[in-house]
Amino acid sequence: MSNQLQEDYDFQERDVSAGHPVSGDLNKVRLVPRITVQAFCETEIVSQTIEMTANDRRMARAKVKVLSGGLASAVEYFQPAPTPNLTIIESSLAGEELMTGLGRLAEVCDMDTKVIVIGHRNDIQIYRELVANGVSDYLVAPLSMADLMSAISDIFIDPEQGPLGRVMAFIGAKGGVGSSTICHNVAWTISSRYRNDVILSDFDLAFGTANINLDQDPPQGIAEAVYSPDRMDDILLDRLLAKCADHLNLLAAPSTLDRTYDFTQDAFNNIIEVAQKSSPVVIVDLPHQWTAWTRQVLSLADEIVITATPELANLRNAKNLIDKLAELRPNDAKPKLVMNQVGVPKRPEISVADFVKPLDIQPAAIIPFDPAIFGMASNNGQMIAEADPKSQIGQSFEFIAQLVTGKAELKVEKKGGLGLLSKLKLGKKKSA
Ligand SMILES: Nc1ncnc2c1ncn2[C@@H]1O[C@H](COP(=O)(O)OP(=O)(O)O)[C@@H](O)[C@H]1O
Ligand SMILES: [Mg+2]
Repeated sequence: MSNQLQEDYDFQERDVSAGHPVSGDLNKVRLVPRITVQAFCETEIVSQTIEMTANDRRMARAKVKVLSGGLASAVEYFQPAPTPNLTIIESSLAGEELMTGLGRLAEVCDMDTKVIVIGHRNDIQIYRELVANGVSDYLVAPLSMADLMSAISDIFIDPEQGPLGRVMAFIGAKGGVGSSTICHNVAWTISSRYRNDVILSDFDLAFGTANINLDQDPPQGIAEAVYSPDRMDDILLDRLLAKCADHLNLLAAPSTLDRTYDFTQDAFNNIIEVAQKSSPVVIVDLPHQWTAWTRQVLSLADEIVITATPELANLRNAKNLIDKLAELRPNDAKPKLVMNQVGVPKRPEISVADFVKPLDIQPAAIIPFDPAIFGMASNNGQMIAEADPKSQIGQSFEFIAQLVTGKAELKVEKKGGLGLLSKLKLGKKKSA
């Protein structure tokens, strides 16, 4: 069958306009991952179908909000608000009017928000035009729960689209530089500001602090996952996650010394893969180590954030990390660099400008040394933005969150020069 014919055929298969919604085979629908969905309906019947679908066990991980008002109200709603992973728009419009309306919607939606349109005309032309313009699917009302659910799972579990979740790994250029603190705050910011589901995994099994910083004491977590690789699937993952906030799920470290933690290179691959299928954002807090498995996690992450303080050893380590990562990931953007604990009283520091020059990288954020606010937040098991909502530091976390989720970009200023690094003899060795 030609592609065109197949498309027509698929479309006809889903034709439910004849009367009552036919109940497709719900059993064939795969579990829908941790996505956020906002629907804007025009008719009671469609809004009821979406509500019923949302309450089905296969949608249990997704967070669904059903509102009325169709396309116009979606545009108004999203103007000031973060957009979900999926928006479902019921619209009786067609042709120019529909396309203009969707154009307005596109202006207020994030690039990665997917759109399903539910229309009232069983017309393959509308379907083709919408799909050609970036709409993920066009369904015809009245529709069945199975139709809607398989459309959703087709979008988010499509193997051709790659995994749903972006992996963001955080590592310090030295121990104690604040990498974990920044990692947890950024995870919290993404989950609370963008209302995107986040899995935060603490890979520092012996000494991890995510459980303390997020005021959680889950009985199990990452250890269970890493020691049962054969059992690792989305059901086990669900059991191991501790819910910290509406959209924030923690895979906590045991943080005990009952055993030693030695892992093979691929020990964490499966966990990351399962987490990626189940959540749009997967954040990994790495310990300050260079082992086969930390290198492996860094090689497969979509985004890397290196935290450093303005000292010489940090500079040397950051340079080594950045160079090695460029070798391991030749087709990826450079990692993001966060300068932290800047301005410790009486400490001789390298200026940020001198620090970043030899790295040929612009800092994503410069965070001052502020023991009062960091100490208070950590003692209270709070994030910085909770402890002090007006803090500038909270805004830095917000900017890092925007960078790693692709909502903002760093403008690169090209300035070369080895500067301080020549002291460390780190310039590339000439081959003899
Ligand atoms: N900008 C800062 N000012 C003051 N203290 C900070 C700052 N950033 C982090 N800290 C503190 O430094 C300590 C080490 O932080 P942590 O995130 O555990 O570091 P790492 O993960 O790099 O080892 C924590 O007590 C944390 O509260
Ligand atoms: Mg740490």
